[in-house]
Amino acid sequence: MTSLLIRGGSVVRAAGDERVDLLVEDGVIRDVHVRTAAPPKLLSADNTIDAAGQFIFPGFVDCHVHFREPGMEQKGTMESEAQSACAGGITTVCDMPNTRPPTVTVSALREKVRGAEKIDVCDIRFFFGVTKPEHLTELKNLQKDPSEEAGMLRARCCGVKLFFDHSTGDQKAATKTIRETFQVCAELKIPVVAHCEDAGINAKAAKAIAAGDASAHSLRRPPEAEKKAIASAIELSSTFGTQLHIAHLSTAQGLLLIRQAKEQSLPITCEVTPHHLFLSTEDYPALGTFGKMNPPLRSPEHLEALWGGLEDGVIDCIASDHAPHTSEEKRSGNPLDAPSGVPGVETLIPLLLTVAAGKWPHPVAQSLSKKFRYADIGRLCFKNPNRIFALGKRGIEVGAPADLVLVHPEEMWTLKGEELHAKCKWTPYEGWNVTGKATVVGRW
Ligand code: DOR
Ligand code: ZN
Repeated sequence: MTSLLIRGGSVVRAAGDERVDLLVEDGVIRDVHVRTAAPPKLLSADNTIDAAGQFIFPGFVDCHVHFREPGMEQKGTMESEAQSACAGGITTVCDMPNTRPPTVTVSALREKVRGAEKIDVCDIRFFFGVTKPEHLTELKNLQKDPSEEAGMLRARCCGVKLFFDHSTGDQKAATKTIRETFQVCAELKIPVVAHCEDAGINAKAAKAIAAGDASAHSLRRPPEAEKKAIASAIELSSTFGTQLHIAHLSTAQGLLLIRQAKEQSLPITCEVTPHHLFLSTEDYPALGTFGKMNPPLRSPEHLEALWGGLEDGVIDCIASDHAPHTSEEKRSGNPLDAPSGVPGVETLIPLLLTVAAGKWPHPVAQSLSKKFRYADIGRLCFKNPNRIFALGKRGIEVGAPADLVLVHPEEMWTLKGEELHAKCKWTPYEGWNVTGKATVVGRW
C-alpha cells in the first residue's frame, strides 16, 4: 500500500473554502479531515505534501479537445496532448471525432478507446460523429448491443458531435441528417454537441471576401452565421426534447438566444473557449494565422458579452477547443487557407486562475472588471461538464479516486510555447504572464 497525506490545503467549494487534511491510500481518498478550531487530526502517510496556502480541486475537465489521433499525429498524439492536459491541471478530456478516420463508426470508436487505454495521465472520453445517416445506424447498434465490450465503449462515449458547417476534417452534416440526429439522440438520451455556424451564411460571406490577410477570416465567418445555427439547434432541441450543448459560443447574439432558451427551461447548455474570452479581432496583427480558428475571433464587444454570460451563469462550461496544428501548417501558403484551430488545453486553467487572482493576462488589451472566483473555475471546469456529459467523476469525497489538483494561487510564470507540452510547441498566448499554477497529484 502507498499513502499520501496532503496537509492544510483548502478545498474550494461554492459555499466557501474548507481547510482540510486529506489522506490518500492506493489512489483512493480515505479521509478528508476538516480543520476547525480543534487541532489537526494526527494522520500519517508514506509521503506528505504541505499544502498550506494552496487550493485543492478535483482534476479539471476539458469537455472539448482535438487530440488528433489517429491520422494527424504530426499535429499531436493522445500521449503528447494528454501530457499537455495534465501539465495544465486537466485530468479528463472529451475528444472530438474529426480525426482520420473520423469517429463515425463503432470500429473507429473502438480503436480510439484502445489507444486511450494506454494513457494513464488523462481520462480520455470520445464524442461520436455523425455526418451521414449510416452513422446513426452505427450509433443505434452500439446502444442496443448487450455485449460487455459495447458497454465499455458506451461508457467512454460522452455524446454526439454535429457540425453545422465545415471545419477541420470536413464533417458538416446535411440539414436532414442534423434533424434526424436530434431525433435519434433524444430517443437514445444522448447529448448532442453542436458546432453552430450556418453554412449558407458563411459561404456567401466567403464569396464576397475572396482575399485578404488572416483577419478576413472573421469577416468570412460572420456572427450572423453563429446566430442562425444556434437558433436552428435550439428549435430542433425544443421539437424533439434533445439534450443540446452549444460548443464554443462566440457571439453576443448567440448568448442572447441561449439565455432565452434557458428561460424557457429547454435542455440546453453551452461552453465558451479561452480564446474567445481573452483574444479578439484586435489580436490579428500580432497573431496572423495563429489567431485563426472556427468560430473565428470576434470584436471586443462579443468578448465582453461572453464574460457577462459567465458572470450571470448562462454559460455552463469553459472548454479549450484544443485544436493544434503545426507551425509550418499555420505559416505556409495563403493565410485564408491556413488550418483553423489553436492549442489551449494546458493554458486554460492558468489563464482562468490569473483572472481569479484579480489580474488580466492579456499584455495589451484593457482589463474588464469581472467577478470571477476560484470556485467559478471549479463549477465551469469540473462540476458542470461532469454533470452535462455524465462523466461520473466523484470529486473530493471519501472513497472517491484521488483525482486531485493542487493550485498555487500566487505562483507567477510566463507562457512559452516551447515549454508547454503539446506537440505543436506554440501558443497564441506566447509571453503572457499568468498567476497561478495547477499541479496534478494523487494519480498513480
Ligand atoms: O478552429 C477549429 N479547429 N474549429 C473546429 O471546429 C475544428 C478545429 C480543428 O479540429 O482543427
Ligand atoms: Zn472543436
